Amino acid sequence: MFSRYRKTTGAQAVKPVDAAADRSKPQAGNPAPKAASKPEPSSPHPAVVAAPDATTQRKHRLNSIKSDIHKRLLENLNLAALETASEAELRTEISTIAAETLSELDVVLNSEERKTLNQELYYEVMGLGPLEPLLQDDTVNDILVNGPKQVFIERAGKLTLSDVTFRDDRHLLRIIDKIVSAVGRRVDESNPYVDARLADGSRFNAMVPPVAVDGALVSIRKFKKDKLGIKDLVRFGAFSEEMALYLEAAVSTRLNVIVSGGTGSGKTTTLNALSGFIGNEERVLTIEDTAELQLQQIHVGRMESRPANMEGKGAVTQRDCLRNALRMRPDRIIVGETRGEEVIDMLQAMNTGHDGSMTTIHANSARDGISRLENMVAMAGIEMPLRAVRSQIGSAVNLIVQVSRLQDGSRRMMSITEITGMEGEIITMQEIFRFERTGLEPDGTILGHYTGTGLRSAFADRFKRWGYDLPASIYDEIGARR
Ligand SMILES: Nc1ncnc2c1ncn2[C@@H]1O[C@H](COP(=O)(O)OP(=O)(O)OP(=O)(O)O)[C@@H](O)[C@H]1O
Ligand SMILES: [Mg+2]
Repeated sequence: MFSRYRKTTGAQAVKPVDAAADRSKPQAGNPAPKAASKPEPSSPHPAVVAAPDATTQRKHRLNSIKSDIHKRLLENLNLAALETASEAELRTEISTIAAETLSELDVVLNSEERKTLNQELYYEVMGLGPLEPLLQDDTVNDILVNGPKQVFIERAGKLTLSDVTFRDDRHLLRIIDKIVSAVGRRVDESNPYVDARLADGSRFNAMVPPVAVDGALVSIRKFKKDKLGIKDLVRFGAFSEEMALYLEAAVSTRLNVIVSGGTGSGKTTTLNALSGFIGNEERVLTIEDTAELQLQQIHVGRMESRPANMEGKGAVTQRDCLRNALRMRPDRIIVGETRGEEVIDMLQAMNTGHDGSMTTIHANSARDGISRLENMVAMAGIEMPLRAVRSQIGSAVNLIVQVSRLQDGSRRMMSITEITGMEGEIITMQEIFRFERTGLEPDGTILGHYTGTGLRSAFADRFKRWGYDLPASIYDEIGARR
């Protein structure tokens, strides 16, 4: 009944795999007594070979069977017809071919194993193989693959080694290839790295050997359908309600904001949450290397830069997008991350009537953020005296919000700092809020609280004029309040 998903010719062309080696009938907890006589395609990790326990042996054996069946599926399935197949039809077809192959190989699996096998085969054919369950698991934030046998995942800020593995280098490369060819890119020895966006919006980066020394490296930042909003972040303890009130006033009154932080510290999440304070009547343009932001406003234009193609042509940089954006009558411009020459246009935009623009930078403190901006200007080849550069930065940027991922995995807003002007050659700033650490629980949880610094915002009058009359008490130091 499902024969239309099978190829009409050569369907039975596959030679049965070395069935003699598969006579043993493994049951759960009762591993095959001897290894397959031909070398398994998934040569196990050397450390594992040294001491193969029952579960590991069985896992390798199942892997080898999976690989055989997968080969058979690819040869037997009519891939063109698959596009019109429903999920149920396809699952039935896959389990039929798998059952046929298992019986040819004289391998018996229990029902749980068969279910897992069919699920994994389905993921191999239609999805991204071993990565698929991780992509579907909403509690996983990041997936980091270091070669075929090591897949790390991040959950709730904590990185752990998962039990997901690929059969071998080829398997991993095939999945990478599947991802990048879907977006019209290629990755191979001459093009060893690639950035892409997965169909579900997740950010994807891969680097393949020989540049990646021990097997391909893959990093995936999962796309969160329901981005964390300001309320969620306050609830998770990422910052206090007072800070949220202050940030609402800052964004609504169109201060230029930079979110600064390390890798994976929550910069994009914070930027996205802050954008929630932008009104619906404003025209917002976003520019990113990989579109991650999800603005809730109705009037949003999204741009994504593009690397050069194979012939080195067709690149569209963030700077190109930004320059164009300036001609598109935006009220605000949001650049996902400023990391290069686009800094010039970003500062110019902030200085010339696009108040309320926002971006993120990679830096460890507000002061460090300013130096990063200075360096980016210098690297962009602009010959400008340092004082002039600083005065540009000083008048463009109003606020630096510093975020961090702490050792206990929590992501916190460590400080909110206002840029107040210049004194001589130095940009002056004042910290308004900060996270104060007070101790450490035995389990490693960091204790602390958010507090004002006692300094009143330099923008307090502006806030008031715009209708955000914040109580002076929100700036108090916690100690002083009691
Ligand atoms: N306060 C938070 N609480 C819980 N999870 C968070 C918090 N902030 C961010 N995250 C999660 O942490 C992950 C990294 O966040 P995000 O993408 O914002 O970091 P980033 O600093 O922009 O990273 P990169 O440097 O890679 O661009 C995301 O999966 C996000 O959902
Ligand atoms: Mg980011």
